[in-house]
Amino acid sequence: MDSTRWRSESDEPAPSRLSPVDDRLTADAALRRVRRGEHLLYTGDFHNAKQLVGAMARRLPDPPKARTPLEAFRAERRARQLEHETLSRIVVALDRDYRLQVKRAPDVAEACRQVWGEPEADTTLVSLKTLLGMLGAAEWRRKGLEVPGLTGRLHPHYGVYLPTRTDYVELFLSVTDVKGKRVFDVGTGTGVLSFLLLQRGAASVTATDCDSRAVACARENAERLGLSKRFEVLEADLFPPGKADLVVSNPPWIPEPPKNRVDRAVFDEDNRFLLGFLDGLAEHLNPGGEGLLVLSDLAVLLGLRAPEWLDEQLARRGLRVKWKRSTPARHSKAKDRSDPLHAARSREITTLYGLVPGT
Ligand SMILES: C[S@@+](CC[C@H](N)C(=O)[O-])C[C@H]1O[C@@H](n2cnc3c(N)ncnc32)[C@H](O)[C@@H]1O
Repeated sequence: MDSTRWRSESDEPAPSRLSPVDDRLTADAALRRVRRGEHLLYTGDFHNAKQLVGAMARRLPDPPKARTPLEAFRAERRARQLEHETLSRIVVALDRDYRLQVKRAPDVAEACRQVWGEPEADTTLVSLKTLLGMLGAAEWRRKGLEVPGLTGRLHPHYGVYLPTRTDYVELFLSVTDVKGKRVFDVGTGTGVLSFLLLQRGAASVTATDCDSRAVACARENAERLGLSKRFEVLEADLFPPGKADLVVSNPPWIPEPPKNRVDRAVFDEDNRFLLGFLDGLAEHLNPGGEGLLVLSDLAVLLGLRAPEWLDEQLARRGLRVKWKRSTPARHSKAKDRSDPLHAARSREITTLYGLVPGT
């Protein structure tokens, strides 16, 4: 009997039943059927399938009007989650060689191998939305990304935090005293901060990330940039063992529960990462060492943290802000007036803190 493998980024259970559909299906009919709980296996034309998913997305309700920034933020998240759950019910099939089983299909095999490795079944089932995300990511990985201050391009992998917000990266460029230093990079993602510091003269970096995709991505990029002799990356929770002169981190910055694997780059439930970082910082610093922590104040603007919260947490742990540099957020969402969170996002400030033990 043929084997089938279901792939989901959010650990959604495999569909118990799939109803084949084709180009005759309208967006309204598709929405009615998925809202009744059906999963639809698209067997028509690839471009029509993409249009169908787009048309379904446009028919979804806008988030309700909110009275506070936090209400707006949560309503927006719920709307995105509903969109994800709805659109993920349009499913496509891939064969043993990752050939997409629809008409006019692009070659998706390389993108699938990058994310899942070699095929493990005769048929792989995946939502079209996820597959489109993987194709977009494969294109980023192929072309690479320019990062201010970095010599050479960064080639991000699927599911790894993309440093397209350049505000925090530029803050790091203002750190001048890195020559000869031993560095830890906690939650390295693509490895971007490690590479900037290595190119500016740091002696070596040991980086960590809890996500195996980030670890593989950072390792590959270190090789591409010719930095792998001075860079090591471990799959670990927070700190690597030992001590360093500089311990840098750009942690997830919103203290709300993550809903899927990718969310763990942005959402830090109960401030677990941030407080763990502050708890462990002093014991991972060499004498005279410094922590470099990047933090946006979006959580404060949303009312998820009190303005004095960070100062209190630092004081409790005997840490002091030796210096700080701030910049207004310049990412595209900060300028988007149609964004329900525009009021908060347009005031967002990102700060790089130089932290040292001692009050
Ligand atoms: C905001 S991203 C920053 C990535 C990268 N440093 C940068 O500046 O682009 C946060 C990173 O922390 C990682 N992360 C989340 N929780 C972690 C943990 N407990 N231990 C190690 N890494 C973690 C995420 O996988 C993600 O790559």
